[in-house]
Amino acid sequence: MTPYYVDDTATLYCGDMREILPAPDIAPDCIVTDPPYGETKLEWDRWPDGWPAVAAATAASMWCFGSLRMFMDRRDDFAAWKLSQDVVWEKHNGSSFANDRFKRVHEIAAHWYRGTWSEVYHHTPKTADATRRAVRRKPRPPHLGEIGRGSYTSEDGGPRLMRSVLQVRSMHGRAIHPTEKPQGILGPLIEYACPPGGLVLDPFAGSGSTAVAARLSGRRAVLIEGDERYCETIARRLAQNVLPLGGPS
Ligand SMILES: C[S@@+](CC[C@H](N)C(=O)[O-])C[C@H]1O[C@@H](n2cnc3c(N)ncnc32)[C@H](O)[C@@H]1O
Repeated sequence: MTPYYVDDTATLYCGDMREILPAPDIAPDCIVTDPPYGETKLEWDRWPDGWPAVAAATAASMWCFGSLRMFMDRRDDFAAWKLSQDVVWEKHNGSSFANDRFKRVHEIAAHWYRGTWSEVYHHTPKTADATRRAVRRKPRPPHLGEIGRGSYTSEDGGPRLMRSVLQVRSMHGRAIHPTEKPQGILGPLIEYACPPGGLVLDPFAGSGSTAVAARLSGRRAVLIEGDERYCETIARRLAQNVLPLGGPS
């Protein structure tokens, strides 16, 4: 199998992931992927039957983006996997298709695993400013009197777990793929499930965001994308991204 693109941190294959996987030379530490949900009229947005079983034959850990409707409709397809948790990506804008329901401003990423949980790599997600935090008090109306300084530093918490709702701006207005995921949501998922220097697989690569996020967090990536036009987009994106700082001389 000849890759469409290769560099030091990323390899891209162009084709249907079910025809490429499982492959003896693709042995990822985890999968981080954003499959077609099958919920829009976009030409590529068709659920590839059986893909979660193919993924299960390739890795023991998988973050998968989706909607609750998608996971419920496709529940049987995930039979080979056990669910560990889900996180919510809260976007700054909505993507609702119905004007008689709550404005939809979130997506879900579910973490699946196979085997024994303690043997599955996972890095406990902690917040950076775990022990000291500035706490801001709202100014009180004058009739409630003086309550002292408007902010103070708390030493209380100790290391804190990251919360399961991640607020990250969507790519709206700057995307190169209609459902492109921002680096801010991919980074924490990759760092959770893939050891430093490890290999992430994204079998529905789109614009290649997973490989960019893997590179930024010191991991490598194998990508698969079925649409050759997006393969070309990915190859250009990754090639630009490996240029030394400052660009070409
Ligand atoms: C939801 S998009 C991924 C977007 C990506 N997360 C990003 O940030 O750009 C899903 C992608 O899967 C591709 N795709 C659909 N069916 C596929 C298949 N059977 N094998 C490989 N890729 C497929 C589509 O062409 C589409 O680009």
